[in-house]
Amino acid sequence: MKMDHYPKGSLSYLTVLSLLFAGFLYLWITTSSSTSNPLLPIQSQYNCLPQNPEIAPAAAIAVPRDDLELVLSKASMPNRTVIITFVNRAYADPGAEVDAGTTLLDLFIRSLWLGEGTRGLLDHVVVVAMDRAAYRMCRFRRLNCYRLETDGVDFRGEKVYMSEDFIRMMWRRTAFLGDVLKRGYNFIFTDTDVMWLRNPFTKLSRNESEDLQISTDVFNGNPWSEDNFINTGFYSIRSNNKTVALFDEWYSRRENATGKKEQDVLLGLVREGVLKRLDLRVRFLDTIFFSGFCEDSKDFTEVTTVHANCCRSITAKVFDLTAVLRDWKRFKLLRKKMAAANGTVASWRWTNHMGCWRAWGVRGNRNN
Ligand SMILES: *[C@@H]1O[C@H](CO)[C@@H](O)[C@H](O)[C@H]1NC(C)=O
Ligand SMILES: *[C@@H]1O[C@H](CO)[C@@H](O)[C@H](O)[C@H]1NC(C)=O
Ligand SMILES: *[C@@H]1O[C@H](CO)[C@@H](O)[C@H](O)[C@H]1NC(C)=O
Ligand SMILES: *[C@@H]1O[C@H](CO)[C@@H](O)[C@H](O)[C@H]1NC(C)=O
Ligand SMILES: *[C@@H]1O[C@H](CO)[C@@H](O)[C@H](O)[C@H]1NC(C)=O
Repeated sequence: MKMDHYPKGSLSYLTVLSLLFAGFLYLWITTSSSTSNPLLPIQSQYNCLPQNPEIAPAAAIAVPRDDLELVLSKASMPNRTVIITFVNRAYADPGAEVDAGTTLLDLFIRSLWLGEGTRGLLDHVVVVAMDRAAYRMCRFRRLNCYRLETDGVDFRGEKVYMSEDFIRMMWRRTAFLGDVLKRGYNFIFTDTDVMWLRNPFTKLSRNESEDLQISTDVFNGNPWSEDNFINTGFYSIRSNNKTVALFDEWYSRRENATGKKEQDVLLGLVREGVLKRLDLRVRFLDTIFFSGFCEDSKDFTEVTTVHANCCRSITAKVFDLTAVLRDWKRFKLLRKKMAAANGTVASWRWTNHMGCWRAWGVRGNRNN
């Protein structure tokens, strides 16, 4: 992967090397008067430094530890907050799913373009690629990409809901996200099949005592009720000792969770009272704002995210999320027309999620 950064011509490579050398010489001269030599730790952490010439000056100043730290610090907002999503080939590469019109990653990016106040957020998105093809596609899109190494496991293909590979991929994800927390970054985790129609930061609580704000499949009306059915496809979490402890405990359950996906294990932990034990303050998010196919948002003027949850296959998700973006565009157009006539859009409904219901083998309209 890192070879991608290499200038192909040996001439430019030489230029880069000599520039780097000049940089180090300069650093050494300017720092050699101090008693300790700060170059040594930098060098030992950066034995791969010449591979990415662009980062050399920043590395000398901020001393990032590794590739992940580089990606995170680049994407981070000033308050150490990033947006994280995971892709594998089936989610990112248009060549992977022959029957799907587009990829889920493309739909996600399109939603950021079509959403309200969401375009600038793309700079803060870190796309974590689970395989090489997804990483290359991400680089091609000029996004903030991180390649998550996965020891010998094949994460490329579509992972059918609850298959063994699906579950393993989820646990790898949990371990990674715990690492991000330990590095002191707050983040919004979003599945790639979540459409961002408004800027979530405007609808999330800013109260710093709230450690975790997590979406629900079905919202029971009480944001503090642990009886809500959490959905780990979208949440906002602050980095602190309590959330790190939660992720440690969550991940440590993986050995004892045969046939369960990480979401169910977290749900089990919540039911066992882990939130009180770790003194975590968790807000469960209302589906009016943070919605999904399990429970549609009933209000287009408030809807912020739409998750293709309660849905099994990628092709079905692409089909139905395409309809979501179409609904959203039509709503915005209608609202503009109505505003010109001093009116508001009275009622506006989502298109039925037919693709997803077909994939479950359900006939007819379940959109109540
Ligand atoms: C970080 O800053 C952004 C932009 O100002 C804000 O919307 C967001 O709520 C902040 N995040 C946290 C976790 O404080
Ligand atoms: C945050 O929430 C806590 C607990 O409900 C409350 O005591 C505190 O006043 C809130 N802080 C702000 C700034 O609203
Ligand atoms: C978090 O834990 C570390 C190590 O146990 C401790 O030094 C630190 O003070 C704790 N921070 C907070 C905010 O509790
Ligand atoms: C695994 O689960 C069983 C049954 O709930 C429990 O008795 C056992 O202690 C657990 N083992 C670990 C390592 O958590
Ligand atoms: C819209 O409402 C405003 C204030 O209520 C009024 O001044 C304006 O004439 C109205 N425009 C139309 C097209 O009805």
